[in-house]
Amino acid sequence: MEHFAGAEKWVPDKGGLRGLQAALPDCRGCDLWEYADQVVPGDGPARARLMLVGEQPGDVEDKQGTVFVGPAGRLLDKALAAAGIDRADVYLTNAVKHFRFEERGKRRIHKTPAVSHIVACNPWLTRELAVVKPSLVVVLGSVAARALLGTGFKVTQHRGERVELPDGTAAVPTVHPSSVIRSEEYRRDFGLFVDDLRVAAELLG
Ligand code: URA
Ligand code: SF4
Repeated sequence: MEHFAGAEKWVPDKGGLRGLQAALPDCRGCDLWEYADQVVPGDGPARARLMLVGEQPGDVEDKQGTVFVGPAGRLLDKALAAAGIDRADVYLTNAVKHFRFEERGKRRIHKTPAVSHIVACNPWLTRELAVVKPSLVVVLGSVAARALLGTGFKVTQHRGERVELPDGTAAVPTVHPSSVIRSEEYRRDFGLFVDDLRVAAELLG
């Protein structure tokens, strides 16, 4: 496994969300900053009760510098609305803050972050959790699950269940919205995704 120094030394250990987001562009914790257009910080109210954690920015997010504004974001918006959750109330972020891709001609094709990237970037996520202190975290897909719940955790076995992060914060794992987009059984899988988000909405009360 490739080894990176990790984000630790760039993550401020004091201060709020603004300070954290201001420090992000300087991060050299792994190699991804070099190829991406820009870092994509988390977004949402500093006191959000609900935090959603995705994988990494996609092509559109990398160009715009905003989380979940591409196709996966649109799907997520639809599903949140169907579950009765207002996106404006949610803090949205990713396990990895820079876009990883492969170039194919003029296109940039998403490439799943390696475990070494997830580990390197984890100090940012840990700090976001400490600052926002959400009552509940929705874990979107296996990369976020690797970051928050560890290697052995299987999203497919526990989706829609209430689990706990190692620090005791309540969490609901589910699939990544991109997997719903790719699904051959879109209606079913969209419905299952909404069901998991409803579990989160109910737990929040
Ligand atoms: N997929 C993610 O996991 N996060 C984004 O911000 C966009 C797509
Ligand atoms: Fe730093 Fe994370 Fe970007 Fe790597 S992906 S450079 S650890 S912010």
